[in-house]
Amino acid sequence: MRNILVLHGPNLNLLGTREPEVYGRQTMDDINQMLVEQAASYQTTLRFLQSNHEGALIDAIHEAREWADGILINPGALTHYSYALRDAVTAVGLPAVEVHLSNIHAREAFRQQSVLAAVCVGQISGFGARSYLLGLQALLGYLGERP
Ligand code: DQA
Repeated sequence: MRNILVLHGPNLNLLGTREPEVYGRQTMDDINQMLVEQAASYQTTLRFLQSNHEGALIDAIHEAREWADGILINPGALTHYSYALRDAVTAVGLPAVEVHLSNIHAREAFRQQSVLAAVCVGQISGFGARSYLLGLQALLGYLGERP
């Protein structure tokens, strides 16, 4: 049985209505539901948090030390500048996979850099809601293969 923390960063609570041409029409709840369904077939339990506050995300990462095997995270815009979030991932030492709905590498210059990617197992970007499903699969695959 695996336990995974799923984190959604700032503004992702608005998915569904927020720039649907960029982020799609699925809501965050739709995405969470898809993840729960996928997790069930991998005997995995998910806990979710969305926050618009950097500190709340950092606190959740710290608490995950106590119970989680890994972290699936869409840091939103914090991706591009939050050294504090990056340090939190490093500090807890849990494997993390970074996901993005949009292809951040095909967007504005400021979005093309992730300060978190280097401390994550990997990054999945550009597949809409499917990025989360691919990210969960990748994280569970990584955990399964770890010695
Ligand atoms: C995002 C990309 C970020 O640049 C943006 O700030 C978001 C969403 C994505 O999922 O495509 O909030 O992380």
